[in-house]
Amino acid sequence: MYATLNFLYTYYGSRHHLRAARITASHITNIYILVPVQQFLAHPQYGARVAVASAPKRASRAMSTTHVSMRAAIAGAFSRPQLTNRMRCQRIVRSRALTTTSAAAKSLTLTKPDDWHLHVRDASKLSDVVPFTSATFARALIMPNLTPPVRTAEDAKEYRDMITRAAHDGFEAHMTLYLTDNTTPAQVEAAKACGFVRGYKLYPAGATTNSEYGVTDVRKVKDTIKKISELGLTLQVHGEVTHASVDVFDREAKFIEEVLIPLLDSAPELRVVMEHITTRDAAEFVASAPANIGATITPQHVLFNRNALFKGGLRPHFYCLPILKREEHREAVLAAATSGSKKFFLGTDSAPHPKGAKESACGCAGIFSAHAALPLYATAFESVNALDKLEAFASHNGADFYGVPRNIGTVTLEKKSWTVPTEYKFGDSVVVPFYAGEDIEWQMV
Ligand code: DOR
Ligand code: ZN
Repeated sequence: MYATLNFLYTYYGSRHHLRAARITASHITNIYILVPVQQFLAHPQYGARVAVASAPKRASRAMSTTHVSMRAAIAGAFSRPQLTNRMRCQRIVRSRALTTTSAAAKSLTLTKPDDWHLHVRDASKLSDVVPFTSATFARALIMPNLTPPVRTAEDAKEYRDMITRAAHDGFEAHMTLYLTDNTTPAQVEAAKACGFVRGYKLYPAGATTNSEYGVTDVRKVKDTIKKISELGLTLQVHGEVTHASVDVFDREAKFIEEVLIPLLDSAPELRVVMEHITTRDAAEFVASAPANIGATITPQHVLFNRNALFKGGLRPHFYCLPILKREEHREAVLAAATSGSKKFFLGTDSAPHPKGAKESACGCAGIFSAHAALPLYATAFESVNALDKLEAFASHNGADFYGVPRNIGTVTLEKKSWTVPTEYKFGDSVVVPFYAGEDIEWQMV
């Protein structure tokens, strides 16, 4: 299924045909998303696999006569009225959006946003970082990879109370629990009952910071995952395989193939967020998956490619996991974030570490970005003229995915350069923030 869709995307993406049909890449992304989702939704068990799989053949026949327009090729491959109407609709939306951003924006007001992936660390440090987030965001989804991990509803309640005390008034911490080989279906029921746990974080054992308690094989937690699915909780996934034999830059793509697709085959209704996606493979997979699959996207993965890790020397403050990838992947992830698709939403993965733990012979993975989160996304979105897509990405899509109301109130950004401090206090140490000592063109008002 995945390979087929990938092929379709690639084929329709050829510049020649794009020009022939006078449509832009964003239209293609939207069409690409719509076709499989509609077909799969009609067949919850992926029963439409055959229908989709047979489409490229017809499409390629149509497309090989280069005079046939993109529109006709797509319409011929699928259902003509459905797709032509949709394309017309995308064109209208696109031209309206362009009008609103055509005058160079100096300020930007958005519905209050949410950060759907955040690390705030333990009691000794969290009061130094939580306020950066709660100054801008109404809610954040808190990651559970403390030592020891946040495993049960009771652990989460205690942790959540600490975060609430450190935060601005009105801020809501939504919690994740750490999935281990020993998490039981009864614990999942208790998590659901407490009301503030949104799901379980799947760390493949050994994949990243504090993942040693993680899952050694998803098949071992099949009944627990079944319960997570039944109760409508979400599995937040760190999507990387961990075998030493797999190149670190290929671990996300391998995870989709080896772990995620089989997992979704066995639990098709499971709600999954692929956290911090970094590759074209992940962006395409999520875009083409059913509506129960979403993804968060970090600022670093839309602003930088892997060259940043080595610019003029080894740069530990650009090291995070999944690691930054090649430029083509950065572009694909930014295209997903700015595509207007509801499946992609803001999750900073702001992950502070003491300065000494980063600037070390074996430095920790994690980038602290909470001090400048929204300005960083604005910088990335502006780079592709897509500031009009920032509000949905930052403030609507995540809330809609998690089934919580969109926030009331707004935040405003101004296009005004500021210089990021070289460090901030962090417990009894300091943390070096993303863009330390550098200028950012946007700031919160
Ligand atoms: O870079 C990362 N840092 N990736 C993760 O998955 C974990 C995080 C952390 O906790 O430091
Ligand atoms: Zn994380």
